[in-house]
Amino acid sequence: MPDTLICSYMCGIVGYIGRRQAYPILIGGLHRLEYRGYDSAGVALIGDDGALNVYKTRGKVEALEHFAASKDLSGCVGIAHTRWATHGEPNDVNAHPHVSQSGDIAIIHNGTIENYHVLKEALLAHGYSFRSETDTEVLVQLIDYIGQTNGCSLFEAVQEATRQIVGAYAIAVIDRKEPDRIVAARRSSPLVIGIGDGEYFLASDATPIVEYTDRVVYLNDDEIAVLECGKPLHVVNTKANAESRIDIQRLKMSISELEKGGYPHFMLKEIFEQPKTVGDCISGRVAADGRSVVLSGLVENRERFMAAGRIIIVACGTSWHAGLIGKQLIEEFCRIPVDVEYASEFRYRNPVVHPDDILIAISQSGETADTLAALELAKSKGAFVFGICNVVGASIPRATDSGCYIHVGPEIGVASTKAFTGQVTVLAMMALALGRMKGTVDDDKFTRVACQLRDMPSLISKVLKLDGRIRELSKIFTYAHNFLYLGRGYNYPTALEGALKLKEISYIHAEGYPAAEMKHGPIALIDNEMPTVVIATADSIYDKTVSNIQQVKARGGRVMAIVTEGDTTASEIADYAIEIPEVCECLSPLLTSIPLQLLAYYIAVNKGRDVDQPRNLAKSVTVE
Ligand code: F6R
Repeated sequence: MPDTLICSYMCGIVGYIGRRQAYPILIGGLHRLEYRGYDSAGVALIGDDGALNVYKTRGKVEALEHFAASKDLSGCVGIAHTRWATHGEPNDVNAHPHVSQSGDIAIIHNGTIENYHVLKEALLAHGYSFRSETDTEVLVQLIDYIGQTNGCSLFEAVQEATRQIVGAYAIAVIDRKEPDRIVAARRSSPLVIGIGDGEYFLASDATPIVEYTDRVVYLNDDEIAVLECGKPLHVVNTKANAESRIDIQRLKMSISELEKGGYPHFMLKEIFEQPKTVGDCISGRVAADGRSVVLSGLVENRERFMAAGRIIIVACGTSWHAGLIGKQLIEEFCRIPVDVEYASEFRYRNPVVHPDDILIAISQSGETADTLAALELAKSKGAFVFGICNVVGASIPRATDSGCYIHVGPEIGVASTKAFTGQVTVLAMMALALGRMKGTVDDDKFTRVACQLRDMPSLISKVLKLDGRIRELSKIFTYAHNFLYLGRGYNYPTALEGALKLKEISYIHAEGYPAAEMKHGPIALIDNEMPTVVIATADSIYDKTVSNIQQVKARGGRVMAIVTEGDTTASEIADYAIEIPEVCECLSPLLTSIPLQLLAYYIAVNKGRDVDQPRNLAKSVTVE
């Protein structure tokens, strides 16, 4: 592929057709989807006069609103897009929608067309010229070409074009000559259709749709949908060449979940939601007396789990950190060996996967391309694949044999917080339930841990009361250029997670390390300028962690320690201490991670960072 290609990898797409004015609905939808990308945005409308009006600009959705404010925004049919650029600079020309040479057809696209180069050559030979360097413009010209040469409808042209393209796509297409329809199609990129009263909504996920209707259809791979005002939804599976059955599902989301609810940022709201989200996650699963834990995904696949020779966890980023905690939980309670792999590494080697292996894919969005590919690979090698996801109906839960939702509601801040604690909670419940099935956990221990899980919402509420203290401490550390985070055992992954949170939203370099590894290299970095955050809660290796704090202090380092209430040793040696309630070691990350989330948040705010939309990042990483 030449370097100049501008792909449309990770984006948010939205569409509307009905009796209302489309523009406000589209802009509202783009704001909801902005977490998926915020480099450029655009909209295409079939105006009241029948013209195809396209407005697009570099920058966030707000920039598009300014740009379009004085333009003709009429029309009841439209599509819109917000983009996260992976190749090349985001600019006005490369922004979506892209328009065919004829000026009739506009397209928005999330995904990447791998054979765009061959198609472009062919179209150039047929007299087409290109304004942008995008794969998407090739696709719209192809649709235009097929339509013109075959004299066929927009639906037929899109159908034929999808047969010719290789790659991933979710697209929405409108044609000035067929002003009463939107044609949409998907392969490997998500697309949801909302069914209103004589109107249709279309989006990358349900968040732009929920305020208008709770009836949705999730398009499957290789399906093409025709959305026509006042007519039934028409969906065809191109591969099977057959009408698809329309499976209408009810959304359980509420609009308040999509608003900041008085908080300055979604991230802060989501941090403070954790007592509720962890409560929702355990609700109906952990018995009030702590004597049982029931996860239907486990119960239904009991034989498979009982026979598992090994569990492989694949995930990326924060979800991978949760996976590292999951490994310790499952090994401790179930005595099944667990490997935790970066999905992006696993998928590109030739891993040994046995038919009695279980692969667990952890993903908040359920759309992460590497995690999806890793699970497909394990599936092709005969493993049973299980998902731990948040977004209901996303690609990963649909591709797995079974799974367990974390039920924490929409996570909109780009930095993951409540999803992490939801994932760890599910993994803890899995370890308990599977340990009970296998007889590898005694009843006393089971009940003790299950009761603490049951009490977790109130324990988390107690930790959140430290908010003011952490905000004060953040001021001391705001201007550091590097941070070290140390933890051991269950809290080594928490140290990694704390460092990741700080990096991604404050742009301060931070490293997470197993505390004992510090003396094998990182100790050379210690000085008065680099704060060290140490998780030193009362656990089986507390004394060792205290020694690590002493090693930092002996070299002039400044230490902030997360300790257990009543601690005297670590808190005395450290410069600053944050006390959290006592909890068993295996559940401690559910509490220790929270001060680290708050610390990263306040440091980022002190530095004036765009906390919910940090530079260069996007929430749903559908790119390889
Ligand atoms: C960090 C963060 C990312 C995600 C990663 C995986 O705060 O959000 O590291 O954890 O991109 O995303 P999911 O869980 O959606 O697969």
